[in-house]
Amino acid sequence: MSTNGTILLTGGTGKVSSRIASLLSANGNPTLIASRSGTTPALTHCRGVKFDWYDPDTWTIAFSNTSITAAFLVAPPDPDCAPPVNKFIDFAIDRGVKRFVLLSASLLPVEDGPMMSQISKYLLTLKVEYAILRPTWFMENFSEVQHQPSIQNEDRIVTATGKGKVPFVAASDIAAVGFHALTDEVPHNTDHVILGPELLSYSDVAALLTNKLNRKITHVSISEEEIVTIFSSIGLAPDLVKALAAMETAIRGGAEERLNDAVLKVTGKKPKTLEAFVDEVMGTGVWEKKA
Ligand SMILES: NC(=O)c1ccc[n+]([C@@H]2O[C@H](COP(=O)([O-])OP(=O)(O)OC[C@H]3O[C@@H](n4cnc5c(N)ncnc54)[C@H](OP(=O)(O)O)[C@@H]3O)[C@@H](O)[C@H]2O)c1
Repeated sequence: MSTNGTILLTGGTGKVSSRIASLLSANGNPTLIASRSGTTPALTHCRGVKFDWYDPDTWTIAFSNTSITAAFLVAPPDPDCAPPVNKFIDFAIDRGVKRFVLLSASLLPVEDGPMMSQISKYLLTLKVEYAILRPTWFMENFSEVQHQPSIQNEDRIVTATGKGKVPFVAASDIAAVGFHALTDEVPHNTDHVILGPELLSYSDVAALLTNKLNRKITHVSISEEEIVTIFSSIGLAPDLVKALAAMETAIRGGAEERLNDAVLKVTGKKPKTLEAFVDEVMGTGVWEKKA
């Protein structure tokens, strides 16, 4: 961007924003890391600030004494996430923000659809610079969230995706696209469907992990009704459970079976393979059985 203003990263401590923060720090961009905890990472040019999508007073504090020119938007995990985020976009425009980069998802259309679709649809009505990131399923779902405990403790991955394939993508590749969308001189003003380099079923992932970890990891394929029960048991809101379960069925039906060159085109680098990702993560011990 032509200005030297601060870049605000909402979801600042999350998987994607934390990796964008590292890239911005290395590039010398002043960066505000916004999350409810307000954690400040050990990175030069970065400062943490307490920020809650449901508490506009925290938005005011984030903007005090800071000239923010670009914002990365990670909506709260709520099926009705658009109203607070769209209200924040208006608030931020009034305070000089020129560019917005939204983290959405591959299966969410840019305009008519649920959740983040209602934010991207709103952005398109405004005279602002923008990019909409639409990544597929993250590789980090196996190492940081969702599937990590069952791989570590039960040697299994449970989904309702059947034999459907997914072009799993690394959060570092999503972050690299986000970094360019936030900082390139010329605004992207488009959406990027961000995919990894190969199509893999969850059984393929289980076979790869079996090979790497030297113990049998199994993909347990269940029905959409059964995955609803599992998602509900971990305390997700009923509407979110419904949306996530429907996405698993969409994968089963082949909705994610596609590849593209978005990461290469935007960043100049090929996206990471799942094998390279697993090799990197193995050293952290997240899949090792506890004694
Ligand atoms: N995982 C996937 O496979 C996948 C695929 C496509 C798209 N996505 C999308 O990616 C997004 C999640 O990104 P991520 O995985 O990078 O994030 P994440 O690791 O889930 O972290 C969420 C971040 O949001 C913050 N947060 C949560 N509730 C908040 C609130 N009420 N107010 C302010 N901040 C809040 C959290 O920090 P605090 O808790 O400190 O506030 C944290 O920084 C979601 O929109 C998801 O739909 C995910």
